[in-house]
Amino acid sequence: MNYIFNFSREIINWFHFHGRKKLPWQINKNIYKTWISEIMLQQTQVEVVIPYFKKFLKKFSNIKKLSQSSLNDILFIWSGLGFYNRATNIYKAAQIIKKKHNNIIPKNFKDLIKLPGIGKSTAGAILSLTFNYFFPILDGNIKRVIQRFYNLNEKNYQLEKRIWKKLSNLLPIHNSGKFNQSMMDLGKIICTFKKPKCLICPLNIKCLTFIKKKFNIKNIHKKKKKIKCWFILIKYKNLFYLKQQKQKIWKNLYYFPIFYKKKKMFQWIKKKKIILKKKKNKKILYHLNNYTLSIKYFFTKINKKKNFISKNKKKIWFNTKNPQKIGIPAIVKKIFLERKKNKIKKKL
Ligand code: ADE
Repeated sequence: MNYIFNFSREIINWFHFHGRKKLPWQINKNIYKTWISEIMLQQTQVEVVIPYFKKFLKKFSNIKKLSQSSLNDILFIWSGLGFYNRATNIYKAAQIIKKKHNNIIPKNFKDLIKLPGIGKSTAGAILSLTFNYFFPILDGNIKRVIQRFYNLNEKNYQLEKRIWKKLSNLLPIHNSGKFNQSMMDLGKIICTFKKPKCLICPLNIKCLTFIKKKFNIKNIHKKKKKIKCWFILIKYKNLFYLKQQKQKIWKNLYYFPIFYKKKKMFQWIKKKKIILKKKKNKKILYHLNNYTLSIKYFFTKINKKKNFISKNKKKIWFNTKNPQKIGIPAIVKKIFLERKKNKIKKKL
């Protein structure tokens, strides 16, 4: 009998041997775990997500606990994971689930996709990975597998459209969840961005990129635009002045006053009557999706809080020795840590 290549059979059989089956959200899986993990995985690698997922589940073990929590509680657990709008979306979605769905996460595509942070792919992932429902997923790994398998060259929107179509045709009616997980795992383990392991790939005999020995995937790591900004670290005794920021970046988290224009920063300093120490700090590069922040920071110590008193909770004096339970970006933690290390070095 001639061997007939069948895409989904090849990939699912490969998955049985080599796929990831013991990730924390796959053990005793339910829709709540899949939802939280899929949001965390939207812009972050599995290895980074795992400890955050465990911490999140420990604190908010189910939707009821989550929907009783404040945004600050969620941001506190999310601190360091980045892309904080995801945490805000989880908070908003939990409130909608409580009010509109009686604290039960909807099990259908139509209602799921209406929730903040859940698009076509995430809704499909939640339903297929939890219940084996018949929906494809399209993440970065899957995109690469399909693009190479069919040797697709279209640009952006056209490419996405074609890949969705291809995926819909490949998706098996049974085992859709397994198929989706297999695709993500193959992309991560075999069809890697650099140096794909084509010789051991279960799809290689029909993969057009492999057959043509042509790797035409453009370098997606384009040089990003750099944006300069300045932090001002204001210390009073052992407390640091932090503001809950409303800016797009690290929205709703607490961090130092930030400026993108030197002139604005100097106006603010004058108004607040503070004197900055000459900086010796290295600039910090922080990579975001579309640009890189080049951060410099100034430091000052003050003796009176007069100009920094705030009645609301949006401005706080943060105690690094006994930290308040609020969300702060990883970069702020890094600066605190760096300062501590330098202090120890000076003492030695
Ligand atoms: N990326 C998005 N969803 C994922 C999953 N379920 N497993 C591995 N990587 C993923």
